[in-house]
Amino acid sequence: MQAKSINILGIETSCDETAAAVVADGRIVKSAVVSSQSKLHEKYGGVVPEIASRAHLEQIYPVIAEAMAEAKVSKDEIDAIAVANQPGLTIALVVGVTAAKTLSFVWGKPLIAINHLHAHLQSAMLAEEKLELPAAALIVSGGHTCLYDCESPLELELLGSTIDDAAGEAFDKVATILKLPYPGGPSIEKAAKNGNPEAIKFPRSLLGPESLDFSFSGVKTAVLYYCRGQDMKGEDKVDSMSEDEKADIAASFQEAIIDVLLTKTQRAVEKIGANTILLGGGVAANSELRARLQKMCDEAEEPKKLLVAPKQYCTDNAVMVGSLAYYKYRAGLFADLSLEAKASG
Ligand code: KG4
Ligand code: ZN
Repeated sequence: MQAKSINILGIETSCDETAAAVVADGRIVKSAVVSSQSKLHEKYGGVVPEIASRAHLEQIYPVIAEAMAEAKVSKDEIDAIAVANQPGLTIALVVGVTAAKTLSFVWGKPLIAINHLHAHLQSAMLAEEKLELPAAALIVSGGHTCLYDCESPLELELLGSTIDDAAGEAFDKVATILKLPYPGGPSIEKAAKNGNPEAIKFPRSLLGPESLDFSFSGVKTAVLYYCRGQDMKGEDKVDSMSEDEKADIAASFQEAIIDVLLTKTQRAVEKIGANTILLGGGVAANSELRARLQKMCDEAEEPKKLLVAPKQYCTDNAVMVGSLAYYKYRAGLFADLSLEAKASG
């Protein structure tokens, strides 16, 4: 007899997307609903926590209802409720956590706490049935840049992380400097397609020959000074720049970020003897990063297998939450109603 499949309702509200999804057996996406708040934050050039929290409150139940309807499952067919409870904006996370606890209590279903960053990695593993582990796992998002030694979906050891700006944050800030539309990452990628990545040599901060940590504030400041003069003492040149000049800055900046990400990932691969590389997080949607990492894997002395999150699951979503929760469900790792939202983790 075929074993009954395990349906998990995943909930995600860590930043500016309200998301819910139903995932069966950690791999079969029965529904995936995301309500983006991008338009609400656009005029501020970044996510405003208070606005994010209020929008989550408005959207959370409609989004969950839509995910349940799209999946065509009743509450009785749901085996557990999973929620990202860390890291992120606490007043945003708390909305998803409260909704999940309420449903868990009212429906009488187990509750599963999910680390948002670990879930981003799960997006990269969704399509793969047989993983060759350990993998060097790179998460590049708006709030985090981390390298992990991934021994299994539930065993992730942090090898390094950013000491200042996250990669996505640097993309967003440079887009603001270049007066490109919000959100910045996709805008930089678009502008960079028409630019020369070797036009300007922006700094690549490697923090020493062995470090697996990242630092992106230097390259961001270098772009700022390039556009506004050393120590911002010049005039803002961006308004009078041609589209070609902006494209060259975007391409050169993107190249600097990607060079650093590749160097550090290569170091992690060597350190843990990995044959697989995992890539996830919002910045993993960047086509140039995906292509360069693929090239690195193909051209390695011993070619590596690269698993990248599908583009629709790179930025924040609940499929990754429902998927990772399956492994916690199988391991009996449940939370209780004292679960709290945490900014770090
Ligand atoms: O993972 P995510 O949705 O949210 C966090 O957990 O932070 O990542 C959002 C980040 C933003 O900084 C956004 O600019 C960046 O991912 N991003 C990109 C691209 N698409 C999104 N960065 C570079 N190229 C892209 N195509
Ligand atoms: Zn994220």
